[in-house]
Amino acid sequence: MIIAVDGPVAAGKGTLARRIASQYGLVYLDTGALYRAVGLLVLRRGQDPNDQEAALKAAQSVSEISLEDPELRKEETGNAASVVAANQDVRAALLDYQRNIANQKPGAVLDGRDIGTVVCPEAEVKLFVTASAETRAKRRFEELKSKGEDVSPEDILADLKQRDARDQGRNSAPLVQAEDAHLLDTTKLDIEAALAAACRIIEETVSAQSG
Ligand code: CDP
Repeated sequence: MIIAVDGPVAAGKGTLARRIASQYGLVYLDTGALYRAVGLLVLRRGQDPNDQEAALKAAQSVSEISLEDPELRKEETGNAASVVAANQDVRAALLDYQRNIANQKPGAVLDGRDIGTVVCPEAEVKLFVTASAETRAKRRFEELKSKGEDVSPEDILADLKQRDARDQGRNSAPLVQAEDAHLLDTTKLDIEAALAAACRIIEETVSAQSG
């Protein structure tokens, strides 16, 4: 079974997808971490994320960055990730890795932007997780502040709007809700309530498919 969890910046996809995977004993992949790793590698090499060739080279050697590297979660890395993610060749280079994980037994939960539309259109359950821009910016600000990053709430909201626009407006695999995805708005839900709502959707969808 594959569960696709897509949605905009800081909608809480990661925490939710990780919890869903542990609840059902499935493998978990944060696909945003792959794009962040490409962005981080470009920055560490002193290159420009807009440089198409540099971004592709970084995608081809993305295993040089550990997916546990704490710098992956930095705001600057997220912004670089959103730039390299608009590059069609970068996306193609990361596709097989994502599909291999998706097809592991007994199943997997992947979170990102294009899991239900491009990476795994055959996913049995698709969730599109969102929240208001202000709520998402507040959550991201708290996350970064707790890690000691020196950021302002205004800058976080501005970055978030810019990244959403870039993710939605790009030609290659833009962020869009799949036709068969279930919308989950977490503006008023804490993580436990969001998990409960997600599990309800998953169980209803699976039982409708098997019945
Ligand atoms: O955690 P946050 O919502 O800030 O972002 P993320 O999931 O870590 O992804 C970082 C960036 O990678 C996003 O802004 C997207 O541009 C890109 N991304 C993508 O294009 N496709 C994916 N499947 C996952 C992430």
